[in-house]
Amino acid sequence: MATTHTYDAVIVGAGGAGLRAALEASQHVRTAVISKLYPTRSHTGAAQGGMCAALANVEEDTWEWHAFDTVKGSDFLADQDSVDVMCREAIDAVIDLEHWGMPFNRTPDGRVDQRRFGGHTRAHGEAPVMRACYAADRTGHMILQTLYQQCVKQGVEFYNEFYLLDMIVSGGRVAGLVAYELATGELHVFRCKTALLATGGFGRMFRVTSNAHALTGDGPAVALRRGLPLEDMEFFQFHPTGLYGIGILLSEAARGEGGVLRNATGERFMERYAPSIKDLAPRDMVSRAIYFEVKEGRGAGPKKDYVLLDVTHLGKELIEEKLPDITEFARIYLGVEPLREGVPVVPTAHYAMGGIPTDNDARVVSDETNTVFPGLYAAGECACVSVHGGNRLGTNSLLDIIVFGRRGGLSMVEDARRLDFAPMPEEPERDAKAILARLAEGPEPHAVPEIRAELQHSMDENASVFRTDELLREQENALGLLRERYAERAGVQDRSRAFNTDLMEAFELGCLLDLAETLVAAARARTESRGGHYRGDFPKRNDKRWLKHSLAWKSGDAVRLGYKPVRLGRYKPVERKY
Ligand code: FUM
Repeated sequence: MATTHTYDAVIVGAGGAGLRAALEASQHVRTAVISKLYPTRSHTGAAQGGMCAALANVEEDTWEWHAFDTVKGSDFLADQDSVDVMCREAIDAVIDLEHWGMPFNRTPDGRVDQRRFGGHTRAHGEAPVMRACYAADRTGHMILQTLYQQCVKQGVEFYNEFYLLDMIVSGGRVAGLVAYELATGELHVFRCKTALLATGGFGRMFRVTSNAHALTGDGPAVALRRGLPLEDMEFFQFHPTGLYGIGILLSEAARGEGGVLRNATGERFMERYAPSIKDLAPRDMVSRAIYFEVKEGRGAGPKKDYVLLDVTHLGKELIEEKLPDITEFARIYLGVEPLREGVPVVPTAHYAMGGIPTDNDARVVSDETNTVFPGLYAAGECACVSVHGGNRLGTNSLLDIIVFGRRGGLSMVEDARRLDFAPMPEEPERDAKAILARLAEGPEPHAVPEIRAELQHSMDENASVFRTDELLREQENALGLLRERYAERAGVQDRSRAFNTDLMEAFELGCLLDLAETLVAAARARTESRGGHYRGDFPKRNDKRWLKHSLAWKSGDAVRLGYKPVRLGRYKPVERKY
C-alpha cells in the first residue's frame, strides 16, 4: 500500500522553475515540492554565464530588441507572443531576485552588471549588447540558493529524493502523482488538484553532454506515456564549448568577455562563418562551424578532433573575477592552464528546446489546437512554450525558468481555487508498481548500463549536430533493438529497498529511450535545416513547408507525429545572417 498525501498543488522538480513556482503557489494554497535530488543539487546550479534582461544598466537596450534577438536566434520557430511575455517580464524577474538577495556582480556605481552573450544585440543586430546579468560564472548556482532560501523561509514542504514514476489521470484531468522514496523504496501517492512538472532536460540520452546524471526527462516521459504529446523534440541544442572528451560546460561568458575560438592553425575561424558577430553568433551556428572545421581537417590535437577556446589575452585579473569556475574546470579535468594556452573544446549536448507543450501561463496543452489539459502545468527545460523555437540564445534559459515558473505557480493557485479533486482510481499506484516489478525481475542485471552506453554512443553518432535520413534511419533501428532488450530483459543487481539507485537508473533509462524515439522520429520527418536541427541532406531552411511545430505522441511502440502553426508577430522570417 502506498502512503497517500493530499495537496492543492504539487510541483515536481526543485530547480529554478520548480522553486519559483513553489514561491508563488505556497503563498496561497497547500503546496508540496517533490524532487529526486536535494534541491540545491538541481541542475540549475550548473548554469554558468547569466540571465538576460534588457535592464540597460551598462548600455542602451530595450525588451523589444531582446525579443527580436530571441526570435531570430530561434530561426523564427519561436511563438512571438510568448517571446514578448518573456522578454517584457525579464526586467522584473531580475529585480525580484535582486530583492531576495541574489549576489549579482555589480557595476562600479552599484547596479546589476551586465555582459555580452551569443546572439544578443542592440538595434536589431547592429552589434553585440551587454544584456546578461551574472554572478561570476556561477549564476545558476546563486539563483538556486536564493530561491531555495526563500522557499525555506516561506515554509514550502519538500519531499527530497522522491522520484516521479507516474501521473494519475482521471476524467480527462490530473488526479495526482506517484513517486518512489529512494530512502525506503516506498511508493507515495500525491493526490492533488494541480501538478506542475519542472523536471529539467534530458541531455543524458547523449554521451558528450553538459547535463548532470539526473537529467533523464522523467517528467516529459511520464506525460508522454499518459497520452500527451511532446513538442519540437527534434530541436536539441549543442553548446559549442564543452570540455573535450567529457562535455562539461565552459560558459559562453568566456567569449562574452572576449575569448575566441581557434582551429589547429590558430585561425579565428568564426570570422568566416559569422563576419559581424563572430564568436558571439548563436550556438547552433558556432557548433556547426566547429563540426565543419573538424570534418575538413582543421581540428586541433593528435586526432584533429577539437578546437581551442583561447582566453589567454583576457588577463589573470578578469579571469579570476569573472570566469573562475570554468578556468578551474580546464585545469582539473584536462590539466590545461587557460592563462597560458587554448582549452580543447567540442560541441556538447546542452539543452532541449522541445518538451511538454504549454501556453503562456504554463498550462499544458494536448493537441494541434492547444486544448488545455486540466490541472497539469510544465515550466523550464522540460516544457516547450515555445520561446526558444529551433535554437535558444544563451542566458534565456535562466530567464525562462523564472518567468514561466512564476506564471505556472500563479496558474496553479487560480485553478486550485476553482477545481475540486478529481476522483482517484482504485489502486492509483498499480501501473508504477508493475513497472518496478518488471525491472526488478528482468533476467539481465547488467543490461541497464550496457543499453544506456549504446543509446548515448549511437545518439552522438547519428542524431547530434549533423543529421541525414540515413543516419536517422540507422538510429531508429538501433533504438528499436535497445527498446526491445530493455522491455524484455533489463533487470537490476540490487534487490534491496533502501537507496536502490540501481532500480531508479533502470527506470530513468526507460524515460530516455522513450524521449530519444520521439526526437529521432521528429528529426527524420523534418526535411529541412533550422536552428539546432541540421540535415546534411536538406541543408536549407524551408519556411513554406516547415514553419510549424511538431507534436509527437507515443502510439504503442511507434511515434505518431502532428503539427501546429507557429504564432508569428512583428518579425517576419528572413534568412539569418550574423
Ligand atoms: O554558456 C553558458 O553559460 C550557458 C548558459 C545558458 O545555457 O544559458
